[in-house]
Amino acid sequence: MSEQKDILTGHNYDGIQEYDNPTPGWWTWLFIATVIFSAVYFLVVTVIADGRLSPAAFHDQEQDEAMRLQYGTIANEKPTAATLLKLMKDDKWVRAGSSVFQTQCVACHGRNGEGMTGPNLTDNAYINVKKIDDIYDVVSKGRNNGAMPAWGPRLQPAELLVVSAYVASIRGKNLTGKPAEPNAVEIPPW
Ligand code: HEC
Repeated sequence: MSEQKDILTGHNYDGIQEYDNPTPGWWTWLFIATVIFSAVYFLVVTVIADGRLSPAAFHDQEQDEAMRLQYGTIANEKPTAATLLKLMKDDKWVRAGSSVFQTQCVACHGRNGEGMTGPNLTDNAYINVKKIDDIYDVVSKGRNNGAMPAWGPRLQPAELLVVSAYVASIRGKNLTGKPAEPNAVEIPPW
């Protein structure tokens, strides 16, 4: 280092001179290595793997795996009346459905399904539901030009199943909330 003190660039501005202190070789090479690494990284991760190595892809993979673990036994069940009747009697699936409901549905249907902008789901009168499997249809496809949004594109099939089972299970609780809609009719028990 000491001999560098004597090396000057020869620049002289109003008597102010400049040492010629180049960055150390190891630093320069490290810098060049990072530039090369970034090019290789970009090529491999973004171009060749085409997004399959991105954090988002890993997140999706893990989410699929979590879904499989959580809903493994019902992931392939058809949304029939029999399936929903079975699930709504099983505490475990009703609780899973309740947690989906708490995340996605309470803004319009109230914390316990008692209704806000959306109808009260705890009475016996419905607009779009005549039988239990209609719930799955309404929830996945939506109704009334999206006033009730379509959840099919946003939730996993198993999540649609359990939230439908939950909705079926809160029928008849008759919680105080939104009065029955004027166009709703009372339907026979499931
Ligand atoms: C943006 C507000 C909103 C959200 C969020 C919402 N809903 Fe709805 N929902 C509505 C409205 C409004 C209706 C009434 C549609 C109509 O008038 O036909 C409805 C109707 C329904 C019905 C049919 C009720 C009937 O009487 O026919 C069910 C079942 C239902 N929603 C379940 C759900 C579930 C489950 C979720 C969450 C996954 C959810 N909703 C989220 C607004 C919402």
